Amino acid sequence: MQAQEMMSGLRIPEMDELGHFFRSLPTSTLVGIGALTAVLAYWLATRPRPIKPPCDLLHQSEEVPNEGGGRRSMMGDPSKLLTHYHDDARTMYEVFQRGLHISGDGPCLGSRLPNQPYKWMSYKEVNARAEHLGSGLLHQGCQPNPNQFIGVFAQNRPEWIISELACYTYSMVVVPLYDTLGPDAIRFIINTAEISTVICDKVEKAQVLLDNVQRQETPCLRRIILMDAFDTDLVECGKGCGVHVQAMQEPPAPEDLSIVCFTSGTTGILVTALTCNNFTPTAVKVNQLALVSIKLQCFCVGVSLQSVVYCHGGRIGFYQGDIRLLPDDMKALRPTIFPVVPRLLNRMYDKIFNQANTPLKRWLLNFAAKRKGAELSRGVIRSDSIWDKIFFSKIQASLGGRLRMIITGAAPTSPTVLGFLRAALGCQVYEAYGQTECTAGCTYTTPGDWTPGHVGAPLPCNLIKLVDVPEKNYFAAKGEGEVCVKGPNVFKGYLKDPERTAETLDSEGWLHTGDIGKWLHNGTLKIIDRKKHIFKLAQGEYISPEKIENIYIRSEPVAQLYVHGDSLQSCLVGIVVPDPEVMPEWARKKGLIGTYKDLCKNTALKTAILEDLVRLGKAAGLHSFEQVKNIYIHNEMFSIENGLLTPTLKAKRPELKEFFKVKIDRLYSSISM
Ligand SMILES: *[C@@H]1O[C@H](CO)[C@@H](O)[C@H](O)[C@H]1NC(C)=O
Repeated sequence: MQAQEMMSGLRIPEMDELGHFFRSLPTSTLVGIGALTAVLAYWLATRPRPIKPPCDLLHQSEEVPNEGGGRRSMMGDPSKLLTHYHDDARTMYEVFQRGLHISGDGPCLGSRLPNQPYKWMSYKEVNARAEHLGSGLLHQGCQPNPNQFIGVFAQNRPEWIISELACYTYSMVVVPLYDTLGPDAIRFIINTAEISTVICDKVEKAQVLLDNVQRQETPCLRRIILMDAFDTDLVECGKGCGVHVQAMQEPPAPEDLSIVCFTSGTTGILVTALTCNNFTPTAVKVNQLALVSIKLQCFCVGVSLQSVVYCHGGRIGFYQGDIRLLPDDMKALRPTIFPVVPRLLNRMYDKIFNQANTPLKRWLLNFAAKRKGAELSRGVIRSDSIWDKIFFSKIQASLGGRLRMIITGAAPTSPTVLGFLRAALGCQVYEAYGQTECTAGCTYTTPGDWTPGHVGAPLPCNLIKLVDVPEKNYFAAKGEGEVCVKGPNVFKGYLKDPERTAETLDSEGWLHTGDIGKWLHNGTLKIIDRKKHIFKLAQGEYISPEKIENIYIRSEPVAQLYVHGDSLQSCLVGIVVPDPEVMPEWARKKGLIGTYKDLCKNTALKTAILEDLVRLGKAAGLHSFEQVKNIYIHNEMFSIENGLLTPTLKAKRPELKEFFKVKIDRLYSSISM
């Protein structure tokens, strides 16, 4: 059929030219040429076609009048910002109902036990369980209104979604709690949101919550609903401090339920961007992101994505909860959509190149990727080329072999990695940029634009403007400045914290992100720096340590690092935490053998890592005063528990400085010697 279409469409310019060519040739050669024509015609008919971009890729955003230089997406209605994509799916509740309807009660949530196939719960089952749970909550005194906060303290699994849906069904608000938040943050959240009910997965987590109540640190907590089985000890323990412990399965007895109202929040914003791209209803995705991910905002991307999947009646498969089993889960689930953090993409890239263990193999890999890259730049994405058959099909099979879309965000991905993986995986790879405060996303790669090095154009639901940051020499007039976002996806404020809200959200409704962006000539945005945490070195040069860290973090053996400097010093030093899984092997190739801890103390390793950082810095165009002059290798990850990361897993810079004070002083004295 495709061949027919193309064959009848001989107005293709290349073919016209061929026609002229034939007419000017002597007949004797025409037989041979005839065969060639057939081959060419076949090639033209079957060659892969590029994805049609939804707008001109050289003009992906434009300035709107009277918005202080704010730019909007070229997609959608130019007169207003988009708030929803389908009229029948304006709220999370409606989104799910739409999925139920569209899928014709198809499979919805899947999970698996070790070495077993995925088991699926249908849309109707999920819906019934959510309604059941929700009415049970109301029966026990929860109020069906948006001031009722319900805590969910669990790993990502089907019951998480059911709890979420139960709340949306009755207008209550879900507050996710995670281990990684740390005990202080969990207590803070429970008290601030006055959470009386927490739905949690494991007995150990319930025990943590009960301990808090026993110490009278969270007096408002009254009820714990458990997903896993538990014994009477826990119930007794709860009784002792006035907390009712019950099972999620316990059939609550809904009495007369008269009020059912639906949440009116906006739905996930990524809905828009994705549906532009012929998103089909069979999407299956592995839900690993929310928990493996390092950043909470990733979780939001996950949530937004989930709503996209429901909206189209798709299904979601959960990983077993153990990241080491993820490859196995990928093979069992064979997902079509896979949201990942850049770190995982970097890992994939490093692993592919490590396995290609000779220079020839690497050269071939790069060569194949370049050939496919040429197709990519014409917008063609496919996984059936000769290069796929020879080189990439194994890589694709290791991810299940059905991937159609990868979505990444939360941190920058290097153009090299992104470019290679786009070619090797033969699926659409999108980059998003945003933060929790704007429902995770505010820019997104335009379908068809497979060039790396930017985060795409504004989403159709928000405007983006850049604001002067004179102290760092960024000016909006030059197309550079702090990224500000305005639109229905921007948050209303921090709960019960007007002061911080006012710092972040200005009176005109612009969210100030703290990131420094730059408009590229085709209307896409590039994130180039952070506004905060800048300082001058002794000689007066401005330093943005986060910009440098973002470059250095690409170093293969490095898991975390902190770049330090201050205006009393004339150079920078760094604290580096090597990746326990990657560094020993990396070191072995340099002839350094030992356990992780031993290697961390090895000066040869330190030198090797320092050289690698400086090499990366140079390649990325850092000035020599922006390069670290010495590093200390630390063998324990920065974490929330040890107080070196914030609950959203950003570096706590003042704490890091204090914690490593002695080491930093020693680094400086070693340089001056
Ligand atoms: C947009 O501009 C950037 C910077 O000039 C470039 O790298 C990228 O290839 C362009 N994208 C397209 C689709 O032309």
